Amino acid sequence: MAANHDPQVSRLSQPFHDAGIFFQQAVRTFRATGAVIPSGAALADALTRYVAERDDPSTPLSILEAGAGTGPVSRAIASRMRGGDTFDMVEPNPTFVEYLNGLVKTDPVFLAVADRVTVHQALVTDLGTDRRFDVIVSGLPFANFTADEVRTIMEYYFTVLRPGGHLSFFGYLYTKQVKAVIAPLDDYLRQVRSGWEVEEWVNRYGVGRERVFRNIPPAWIYHLRKPLS
Ligand SMILES: C[S@@+](CC[C@H](N)C(=O)[O-])C[C@H]1O[C@@H](n2cnc3c(N)ncnc32)[C@H](O)[C@@H]1O
Repeated sequence: MAANHDPQVSRLSQPFHDAGIFFQQAVRTFRATGAVIPSGAALADALTRYVAERDDPSTPLSILEAGAGTGPVSRAIASRMRGGDTFDMVEPNPTFVEYLNGLVKTDPVFLAVADRVTVHQALVTDLGTDRRFDVIVSGLPFANFTADEVRTIMEYYFTVLRPGGHLSFFGYLYTKQVKAVIAPLDDYLRQVRSGWEVEEWVNRYGVGRERVFRNIPPAWIYHLRKPLS
């Protein structure tokens, strides 16, 4: 299956085409990919809440998405962008990056904002700390990471987030319970520890929590906000 976003693929079959590419990469790199199919529309909508809801609609937003994959959340972000907003997508997997570049050049939703969209092939923490963002949407699979990796990434997000800015991220419901039954003990314990690290950040900066049952698998979302001072 071609990794390029293919404008010949009909809009109806596009989700299946994207899911095929995503699944191939999940089989190759499950630890980094962290899912077997891309996020659905309900999850993408909920994750992009703070691109749609703005304190000051006249001030443009600087938006960062970490872990764009085949771009279902990126597309929701692009569709909610307004004049002057900028959008940086970060994705380390070269197959996904090739796909995203094709999407930006051919998908009508992206074409409308293409001059303000940048795709970076990188780990998000390698993006540097010069820029500041108003909204960060993270698709990173924290459940597959160690507690130290989660802390490094969260510290990075809260460095590049502007005071008052929002971070939204998600994970899947019940993964801990499933791992408790089927995964090796050290993998289960690693997930428990990375979950505690996530919880610490949520306790410090959390402003909202949602459950999205209309996704495969069902997901939770946390919204965090960097204090103004
Ligand atoms: C669960 S998938 C989410 C993909 C897409 N956002 C979605 O919702 O369908 C996680 C994505 O994060 C990417 N990723 C993993 N580690 C990363 C890192 N350190 N920085 C940026 N992206 C990363 C993976 O390559 C993968 O595309």
